Amino acid sequence: MILFENVTKTYPRTTRPALDDVSLEIPRGEFAFVVGTSGSGKSTMMQLVMKEQDVSRGRILVAGRDLDRLPERKVPALRREIGCVFQDFRLLPNKTVFQNVAYALQVLGSSRARIRQTVPETLELVGLAGMEKRLPHQLSGGEQQRVAIARAFVNRPPVLLADEPTGNLDPDTSLGIVQLLDRINRTGTTVVMATHDTVTVNAMRKRVIRLDRGVLVSDMEAGDYTTGSIPRIRLDEEAEAPRRAAEPEVSDGYDDGDPTAYDQDGESEGLPPIGRDADAPRGKSGIFRRHKAVQTSDR
Ligand SMILES: Nc1ncnc2c1ncn2[C@@H]1O[C@H](COP(=O)(O)OP(=O)(O)O)[C@@H](O)[C@H]1O
Ligand SMILES: [Mg+2]
Repeated sequence: MILFENVTKTYPRTTRPALDDVSLEIPRGEFAFVVGTSGSGKSTMMQLVMKEQDVSRGRILVAGRDLDRLPERKVPALRREIGCVFQDFRLLPNKTVFQNVAYALQVLGSSRARIRQTVPETLELVGLAGMEKRLPHQLSGGEQQRVAIARAFVNRPPVLLADEPTGNLDPDTSLGIVQLLDRINRTGTTVVMATHDTVTVNAMRKRVIRLDRGVLVSDMEAGDYTTGSIPRIRLDEEAEAPRRAAEPEVSDGYDDGDPTAYDQDGESEGLPPIGRDADAPRGKSGIFRRHKAVQTSDR
């Protein structure tokens, strides 16, 4: 879903890169934390995925798109597939909860009928049913962040990026927010959350990608800020790992099978069923095959 290949980002008029030769892959459906102290490059990573910044060297693929080769006119389509949540919520202060969430659909040209159906469903999902008419200042910080998450998720993007979403919240509220992101992840959305909130990270036992001054210093499955983590297998070894099975984005020459195998039901809407990866076909050699993205909407 998200692939970084030797990505370096150096901002103009700076000497040290904000990201330094970072390679990683975040498969479809994964929940990954990106941790590191302030200035380690977490936000830069997010902005590169959104193509709000361009790489200085290396390559990024998001849902099969090579961002360096993505024409400007296709950037809005990329961003529609990526929901974003920030530390400071960024709600429209004079609009109600309902309007804040509906706005995200209005700018996409959704019909009123769709808005009337989807917004309440999404508010329910984030635990805000009944609060539709409130203004942001009538909500707690945690509730405001839930509105922001609803807004980011209301068009069901395949990817959700959250940049320090708990940075302004107390520990209990933070845990609730991360559990909500986990719930969203379980619907099939890939979630990447930047944070330096150790308690939350350790509570979740998810993948932890750690940056230190722009360098990827560790990448742990079921990670922990401190100890007892399982090191992640390297990218080049991962070709044989089951988790790679259904990644449709990358065609690497050993794709010898039915190109439609990834999306057998040909669906173009809706969320992929959980556990699809496990059902993906194996190649002749027993190595899990990767498939080209042939289904146009790639949802
Ligand atoms: N727009 C920018 N221009 C110049 N330097 C930047 C810019 N954004 C971030 N940086 C620098 O890049 C490094 C990484 O920053 P950032 O990605 O914001 O880290 P984090 O989100 O982990 O705090 C820092 O040294 C920061 O000062
Ligand atoms: Mg940051």
